[in-house]
Parts: sequence; C-alpha cells; structure tokens
Amino acid sequence: MDIEPIPMLDMSSAKAKRAAYELLQSQARSLFEGERDWLANLSQFSALVFNSVPDLNWAGFYVARDDRTLVLGPFQGKVACVRIPFDKGVCGACARTLEVQLVEDVHSFPGHIACDSASRSELVLPVVVGGRLRAVFDMDSPSLARFDSEDAHGMTAALHAMVAATNWE
Ligand code: SME
Repeated sequence: MDIEPIPMLDMSSAKAKRAAYELLQSQARSLFEGERDWLANLSQFSALVFNSVPDLNWAGFYVARDDRTLVLGPFQGKVACVRIPFDKGVCGACARTLEVQLVEDVHSFPGHIACDSASRSELVLPVVVGGRLRAVFDMDSPSLARFDSEDAHGMTAALHAMVAATNWE
C-alpha cells in the first residue's frame, strides 16, 4: 500500500474543519483505489476516520442485514452492542428514517443506546446504495456537541467516496 497515513486532523475552527474534511475525502479516494470489497473498505474507512478525526471514542458501521435489524460491522473503539433494531437508538432512527442523526447530547435522545458511558454526542449517517439501505456509519464523541452540520456534510462526502468505490455483493 503506497498511502501515507494522515495524522490527526485539525478541526479547531470552522475553516480548519473544512480543509480537514477535504483532506479526509482525498485520502478516502486514494485509499479505495483498486479495491472494491465491501468488508475491506468498511474496515479501512473506520480506521481512517478513527485515527484522523479528533475527539472520537468510537467510529464504525452497523450493517443492515434485513429491514428490521442492524448488526455490528467493522469498527474502531471499545466492544459495542451487536444488534440494534430499527426502532431503537440513534442508529435505529437513522436506519428507519434514512436521515442523518446529529445528537448534541445523547442523554437527551429518547432511546439512546449507551454502549460506552463515555459517549456524550453522536453523528450517524445512512449508507444508501441504489435506493437500498446497506449500513449506517456511527461516530461517538466523549465531548458534548462535538458534531455540527460541517461534520455531517464533510463526513457524508468522505463516505460517498468509499461507497462509490465499493461493490456490496
Ligand atoms: N449509541 C448508539 C449505539 C451504538 S454505539 O454508540 C457504538 C445508538 O443509540 O444507536
């Protein structure tokens, strides 16, 4: 692999955050060049995000096995809940609505599933391919209100770079 790992990104200002996500997106495009295996790509994406996006305590995928339940997929961080029904938690809400879930304080989200009591805020993005939900990508932070719309936007674009390079069958 001829790709240099990027260091922890600077997201300390809105301007720095925008530049950081551009770098993350270009890193994602290089990382997935020539590899279309979904398991490898989801694993690499989790590692890329966890090791370059600051202030996270968990980053990874829950895979949609059927239209009712998510199952734990490739991730980085502490061991986590394995199965999440669509009617439970922040991940379930994302799977059910196919909408980005940006939760500034997980304690105020009804039904939040606390896999790690250190988590205080959360961002969950749907992975929809050809109109079908394949997975959700979940990021947790130990800081309150860690995520904003710039994170949602930047991370969605990085995720799209991975999705465009991946075969799901
Ligand atoms: N907090 C999530 C569960 C997954 S863990 O955070 C890794 C939820 O409420 O769906």
